[in-house]
Amino acid sequence: MNERRSSGHSDSSSSRFQNGGASGKQAGVINTRVRIYTLLTVGSIICYMYYIFQSSSFHGYRFWVYDGTGQHPIDDTAPDVATTTAEGDVTTATTSAFEAAPTASASTFWLANMEHRGAAPYHSDGDYKVFRNVLDYGAKGDGIADDTDAINLAISSGSRCGQGCDSSTVSPALVYFPSGRYRVSAPIVAMYYTQLVGNPLDKPVLLAAKSFKGMAVIDTDPYGPFGQNWYINQNNFFRAIRNFVIDLTEMDPAEGTGIHHQVAQATSIYNVVFKMHEGAATKQKGIFMDNGSGGFLSSLKFYGGEVGAYFGNQQFTTIDLEFHNCKTAIFVNWDWVWLLKSIKIYNCGIGVDITSGGPNKLGVGSVLLLDSYIENTPTGIRTFRTADSTPPAGGTLVLQNLIISGVDTAVLGWNDEKLFGGDEEGRNTTIPFWGHGKGYSNEIRNGSDINVIADDTIDAIPIALKDRAGKILERPRPLYRHIPAHRFVSVKANGAVGDGKADDTAAIQKILNTHGNTPAGQEKAIIFFDHGVYRVSQSIYVPPNTYIVGEMWSVIMSYGDVFNDAENPKPVFQVGKPGEEGIVEMSDLLFQTQGPAAGAILMEWNIRSPQGQNVSGMWDVHFRIGGSHGTQLGSDNCRKTPDSKVHAGLDSACISAFMLLHIGKTASLVMENMWLWTSDHDLDADGHDQISIYTSRGLLCEAETGPVWMYGHAVEHNVLYNYQLSDTKNIFMGVIQTETPYFQSNPKAHEPFPPLEAWRDPDFTVSCANEKDKSPLCEKSWGLRILNSTDIFAFGAGLYSFFENYDTACIEKRACQQTMVEIQGTKRSDMVPSRSNIWLMGLNTIGTENMAAWAGADGETVHIKATDGNRNGFSDTVGLIML
Ligand SMILES: *[C@@H]1O[C@H](CO)[C@@H](O)[C@H](O)[C@H]1NC(C)=O
Ligand SMILES: *[C@@H]1O[C@H](CO)[C@@H](O)[C@H](O)[C@H]1NC(C)=O
Ligand SMILES: *[C@@H]1O[C@H](CO)[C@@H](O)[C@H](O)[C@H]1NC(C)=O
Ligand SMILES: *[C@@H]1O[C@H](CO)[C@@H](O)[C@H](O)[C@H]1NC(C)=O
Ligand SMILES: *[C@@H]1O[C@H](CO)[C@@H](O)[C@H](O)[C@H]1NC(C)=O
Repeated sequence: MNERRSSGHSDSSSSRFQNGGASGKQAGVINTRVRIYTLLTVGSIICYMYYIFQSSSFHGYRFWVYDGTGQHPIDDTAPDVATTTAEGDVTTATTSAFEAAPTASASTFWLANMEHRGAAPYHSDGDYKVFRNVLDYGAKGDGIADDTDAINLAISSGSRCGQGCDSSTVSPALVYFPSGRYRVSAPIVAMYYTQLVGNPLDKPVLLAAKSFKGMAVIDTDPYGPFGQNWYINQNNFFRAIRNFVIDLTEMDPAEGTGIHHQVAQATSIYNVVFKMHEGAATKQKGIFMDNGSGGFLSSLKFYGGEVGAYFGNQQFTTIDLEFHNCKTAIFVNWDWVWLLKSIKIYNCGIGVDITSGGPNKLGVGSVLLLDSYIENTPTGIRTFRTADSTPPAGGTLVLQNLIISGVDTAVLGWNDEKLFGGDEEGRNTTIPFWGHGKGYSNEIRNGSDINVIADDTIDAIPIALKDRAGKILERPRPLYRHIPAHRFVSVKANGAVGDGKADDTAAIQKILNTHGNTPAGQEKAIIFFDHGVYRVSQSIYVPPNTYIVGEMWSVIMSYGDVFNDAENPKPVFQVGKPGEEGIVEMSDLLFQTQGPAAGAILMEWNIRSPQGQNVSGMWDVHFRIGGSHGTQLGSDNCRKTPDSKVHAGLDSACISAFMLLHIGKTASLVMENMWLWTSDHDLDADGHDQISIYTSRGLLCEAETGPVWMYGHAVEHNVLYNYQLSDTKNIFMGVIQTETPYFQSNPKAHEPFPPLEAWRDPDFTVSCANEKDKSPLCEKSWGLRILNSTDIFAFGAGLYSFFENYDTACIEKRACQQTMVEIQGTKRSDMVPSRSNIWLMGLNTIGTENMAAWAGADGETVHIKATDGNRNGFSDTVGLIML
């Protein structure tokens, strides 16, 4: 809700591109500071720089330590480190980064060639169209006609959620653009609950006319004449933009932006190319993101521009972005936590600029840059974090597997201080791990430089989490772009109704049994859920080797008594039985319950990907519990009651689920852009009031050996915990995000669900028994709970507690919650036998007194306090906790 805050931020000033960025007078003052800082850091930062040299005459890798006295090789036997591959110019070749070049003609894309049976069952207009082809609304796509009005008509027709609407889930639209060149003279307004999808076989070009006027070619949240947004940026959910080229080169170089992206959870931009003017005069931006609570972006290419991607948001995950000839590739204006993974930067001025706000008001909370490559770019990363910059945790930076070539300075600091040098002449240089910020470990409980903490473990990431090239594995969403339409099996054409009323259990199970489980070597069918709301009253079993894709987040909704028995919980979707192997892929689906649902586990994932095959996964699959039409868990019956003492019972009509996602012992999978949300407010009812509904548990991962990857992942507002990892290993998380339920501690977290030992539930009545007057703050949902686990890597976590019984007054005092992260157990890793090998990096919390706690070797509980020098503007940040 609007109680959420964003950090203060100001528009960028042009001075950020000047060296130092400060006036002469300021610079004098700061010179003094910098001298002190330099003295202080000779002993710590300079000491802990690691380099790997790679050259044709040397086939292994060498780690070097710079300690001021010279270079010392410390390890000749380190494992191979990934090299990223540079790709050709995709503005001339249409090949995607991930699948073979198209062999079929562009007109064969399945989505355009199938019958469109999708419907929006809760919309008042019986003829409402979910799927819209812009050509049917008058767009020409011939590069000459002005298609602005036609495209906006395709988006807005039917009664939809436009200006003044805030949010609505009843009017979804998938707006399809066949290949072509669409000239536009004003913004394409992407309304709430809209997917804009181009033909991926030959991406449509959105060509900004020379006369273009407006904020950006695509605008996800227009500003009205008085600066008011159409949508609240932190509530601007459910959007997608994929498969486009956005071309700004006809415009004057002094203006033009590709996408104004001011969005929150369950949003993505995928497979988009931005073409901009190059050279000194360009002021163009590919993406302009002012604020929001996102979000996910991947597979984007930026050519030219003053800034390729201008970012500002609470938290975000960005993967596989490629930049060519931008003045600055990435400028982060403000954030709490940002993951940049597989970033490729060629021939830019600055790679990643996080100097916003200056050293006395650092706007960037934390940034994590993984598996990336920077070439022919004088400055890799530019920061203004110093030993005494403010806020103290501002500008926290973690680099992992960064390769540089033709880079003078890998990390350039305030006053042009070289915090980390450039590459070795003529050779690619790998920086395996380096950080700028504070870290903690069992041995260093008072905190120290990140690099000191990470000192003895340069590459602790298990092979299980990596791809063949040595990068942490990613698997981009499958688009099935070369599979012809006739291999897509429409569930509506095969007996499912999807009207939000019928019971579709039998029809869906039959379709999965018939068209799922494709034997190896046979042509697979893709099961297509036409948009609709499919009610199921019993568990659905998804067999191995089953491929499912939805349309604009087709909804699976559980209902009935089977899912309302807290003593006998049942999965709505059971993906494989325990121990089963095979591939399952799901994308563009949405799971929910029709309440009450005390025994519903929205999904139980057991399937394990066989060795040597693509890993199974879910992409853009969201769980949305309550707060929307049809769920019976909305503001009419579950409105918040902060003014009376609440004792919720298990028999309440507002019990919304037993658990959201259960990852079983034998499971492995990748997840990308998933939002598991027990709603805090009603998206559809007038007033959008806050609601109190009760989902016992968020995500439980018990995968014994993993691997499990979570990219752009969030779990919010669940009673006992949001994430719990127990007896698990080989887990990658980045960025994960949580929020504690707004109603707690009215009631406290031990209500209404009794703890179940078999599920390893936290027992708050025991753990908070000695807290006396602090017990309300102790009895709050865990953001992240790690039990008896090893080899856990969180590259970015934003875990927030904004409320005490719907009141935000506790935030400033860090008194909404006592502790956010709990780590239990001393199991040792096979990879690093002296430790559990748990790394929490870029951990950001809000409203909590202790950011994390664990039992030290001496039995004493170690608390990382938010106020222990970890303040970072609105959030508190720790660079690294390593156990
Ligand atoms: C450096 O790495 C890049 C990306 O992996 C590769 O294309 C290039 O050939 C390498 N250059 C040298 C000199 O090894
Ligand atoms: C979002 O960013 C814009 C542009 O910087 C600013 O004017 C606006 O106040 C911000 N909104 C919020 C809610 O922070
Ligand atoms: C950690 O800080 C506490 C409180 O400032 C101090 O008493 C203690 O000696 C410190 N421990 C170490 C190992 O520096
Ligand atoms: C993985 O998926 C891609 C396409 O998504 C396909 O081309 C490739 O053959 C698959 N690899 C294996 C080992 O199945
Ligand atoms: C910890 O996990 C191991 C399996 O890795 C299991 O054998 C053991 O029982 C677990 N310990 C606890 C206390 O749960």
